[in-house]
Amino acid sequence: PASALPAPGGDITVAGVSLTGLAERYGTPTYVLDEDEVRARARAWRRALPDAEIVYAAKAFLCRAVVDWIEEEGLGLDVCSAGELELAAARGFPPERIVLHGNAKSPDDLRTALRLGVGRIVIDAESEIAGLAARVEGPGPQQVMIRVLPGIDAGGHRKIRTGAEGQKFGLSIAEGDAEDAVSRILGRPQLELVGLHCHLGSQITTPEPYARAVRRLVAFLARIRDRYGIALRELDLGGGFAVAYRPGDPAPAPVAYARRIDVELLRACHEFDVPVPRLTLEPGRSIVAPAGVALYRVLSVKRSAGRVFVAVDGGMSDNPRPALYGARYAVRLIGRAAQAPTHEATVVGRHCEAGDVLAEAVELPRDVRPGDVLAVPASGAYHVSMASGYNATRRPPVVAVAGEGRSRLLVRRENVEDLLRRDVGL
Ligand code: LLP
Repeated sequence: PASALPAPGGDITVAGVSLTGLAERYGTPTYVLDEDEVRARARAWRRALPDAEIVYAAKAFLCRAVVDWIEEEGLGLDVCSAGELELAAARGFPPERIVLHGNAKSPDDLRTALRLGVGRIVIDAESEIAGLAARVEGPGPQQVMIRVLPGIDAGGHRKIRTGAEGQKFGLSIAEGDAEDAVSRILGRPQLELVGLHCHLGSQITTPEPYARAVRRLVAFLARIRDRYGIALRELDLGGGFAVAYRPGDPAPAPVAYARRIDVELLRACHEFDVPVPRLTLEPGRSIVAPAGVALYRVLSVKRSAGRVFVAVDGGMSDNPRPALYGARYAVRLIGRAAQAPTHEATVVGRHCEAGDVLAEAVELPRDVRPGDVLAVPASGAYHVSMASGYNATRRPPVVAVAGEGRSRLLVRRENVEDLLRRDVGL
């Protein structure tokens, strides 16, 4: 897999395709996505929880080919914008397998979701209930879930920690907001409340927070049953499952999370005497991150204040994660056997900011020089999907590799025409 690139020296192949060959053919920076790996990871989630619904979080990375892969592997799709919905619709993704999220859904998001007939809309604020109900025109009610705030701190970076109180997502169980939302939805015949959702955060490295969330949510199901006499039949625990960015990073397998969640679900349902709801999980990163490799070419090398800076032709515009979350990566020289021993280097981008650092303190051969190709494993999630056009650099392409050494372009590199096309104020 792309996540397990061998030590430097010579070329590296992913799915039988030479990475340096891809750098030659498609230029750099380029994102390579191993189709078989994405599919295998999707299947691993389905196998880990055969009775659950696995919904891929499109925000990690989506393009039309990936919509197809996800559809063919039998997963659903978690989307949070009309744009993601349009990508799914462009490939005829079954709308009933789509879940729409968002703490601030625009009229366009809702219109598109209702027009396509998405399976679930997840309510994240009491103020959106009336507006959504007013838009529903279908013969039947729109199925909705409530995103509850369980009040669980699942670790991970503060900026992507969403299960604890004091941030913008979810309706608090503790403060009664979730229960108020239940009664409001029940008062709207255009909406059918089918279950509860929560998303604890991202890059969560142990199953424990999920087990705690299961207990809280099942307890809340029991409260809803006692108060309103209804048994909600679905529980969606969101995504957030960690991947290894560097060798040795903790990254439990899907089955480890699945077992812990399953055990706690049965135990809690027994204890609170509620029917076992159908489970949904929404992994994004854990399906695509390890299947992606970013390729860069070295543009310059310099020493400054005792440090070695290796500057490449991408940076925070294609991977904002180090700047945003202090994310750490491994970096490998590929394409030639390095002659020199390694030393510690900082791999930086080409953007006009001192904070444009891709990887701090990585071991690279001393003879790294302009023209060399560097590979950054585990780059398949939240890079291209969060890429910007900063400094009018053009966003990189995405190339798929699959068995027998085949590669194909999924998303082409932005070009000057793209840049000028939107600039209409002449
Ligand atoms: N479900 C919901 C409702 C979400 O908000 C998210 C991610 C997921 C599922 C998928 O989480 P995953 O399995 O991919 O961790 N840009 C950040 C990550 C933001 C995650 C936002 N929500 C990063 O690069 O680390």
